[in-house]
Amino acid sequence: MPISKSVAGIAVSAIKEMAMRAAKVPGAASLTWGLPDFPTPDHIREATRQALADDPDIGKYTLPDGLPQLRAAAAETHRAATGITVDPDRNVTITAGNMEGVKTVLRAILDPGDEVIVTDPGFASHFIQIGLVGAKPMFWRLDEARGWALDLEALPGLVTPRCKAILLVSPSNPTGRIFSRNELLAVGRLAAEHGLLVILDDPYCHFTYENRDRYFNLASAPEFVDRVAYLFTFSKCHAMSGWRLGYAVLPDWLKREVLKVHDATMICAPRISQVSGLAALGGEQEHLRAFETALKARRALICERLDALPEIFDYAKPEGAYYVFPRIVAPHRDSSEFAIRLLDEAKVVVTPGRAFGPSGEHHVRMAFCVAEEVIETAFDRIETWHAG
Ligand SMILES: Cc1ncc(COP(=O)(O)O)c(C=O)c1O
Repeated sequence: MPISKSVAGIAVSAIKEMAMRAAKVPGAASLTWGLPDFPTPDHIREATRQALADDPDIGKYTLPDGLPQLRAAAAETHRAATGITVDPDRNVTITAGNMEGVKTVLRAILDPGDEVIVTDPGFASHFIQIGLVGAKPMFWRLDEARGWALDLEALPGLVTPRCKAILLVSPSNPTGRIFSRNELLAVGRLAAEHGLLVILDDPYCHFTYENRDRYFNLASAPEFVDRVAYLFTFSKCHAMSGWRLGYAVLPDWLKREVLKVHDATMICAPRISQVSGLAALGGEQEHLRAFETALKARRALICERLDALPEIFDYAKPEGAYYVFPRIVAPHRDSSEFAIRLLDEAKVVVTPGRAFGPSGEHHVRMAFCVAEEVIETAFDRIETWHAG
């Protein structure tokens, strides 16, 4: 059958694989999918309802780079967050979420054989997206002993003539690490020195708990605006994952190229979602803090439960996002075997760490964006399983 080598060589995402496997185990307690249980806030739903009722154009395409009002709102949100003024026409593109945004940027900058530096562990879908373009992810090993910090000394050794970009997520998936201002500025300097693009995939900037001062957005450094592609998604912080909406703030040399790919493969983000996004950016923002507060309590709970299991897990406390990435210290063969055993024998679902890169092996990812009862049930079961 006609299947491309780059697709045939991909394994189904371990996250979805575990989710599908778990669906066959009734009552399994799942910490596998990074999907918060919060509903989309009412004022966003209401604006959507009104647009459906009143706007005769609501069912139509928009311009490829999105509704002008939403691009203006995105530019203003970006200015408020970073202090950098961008032009809605020259710099902003509305995307169908960051998966589409990152894929589109990668497609616009890469040729087969090129390379992109990604953190290891890092976000599995990035590795796949890079591979789909015929390019290669270059794994930049994080320093586990320093709580999954960036290892700046190792970075220059990864840059080859084929390297085109460095792709970062902070707060990070799967470790919850917030990369520091100094680390990120050093990345920016290296990128400038070698003519690389820095792609910032940012679903988690609003989940930083008591570490808000640690969070630094490299897109706020004026000296690097021409080398940073910043991608924001509404999925997590506005509880809009199913609406498929994000925005990209791009240097103007890049927006034109990105638009070619976006238009050829997507045309535009769904108009209905763009209208909802306008309500999310322009309306009251209380939900941002409410979600963060709820997640902070869940983080405290999962850390407390992990602290009680030092014979199974060793972990670094996450600083942001809603993931923890403990090392398995109990006897096991590899992270997949451990995760499958946990599902089959304890009815608890976690994601094998190997899916997040070579140094993810012997770890599991736990997403604590689920209700506290689910976390309690999962850990009660792990404790009983371990004692048994
Ligand atoms: C790093 C990262 N990027 C992108 C996404 C998905 O974003 P979107 O829903 O905007 O496509 C996720 C979701 O888990 C993520 O963790």
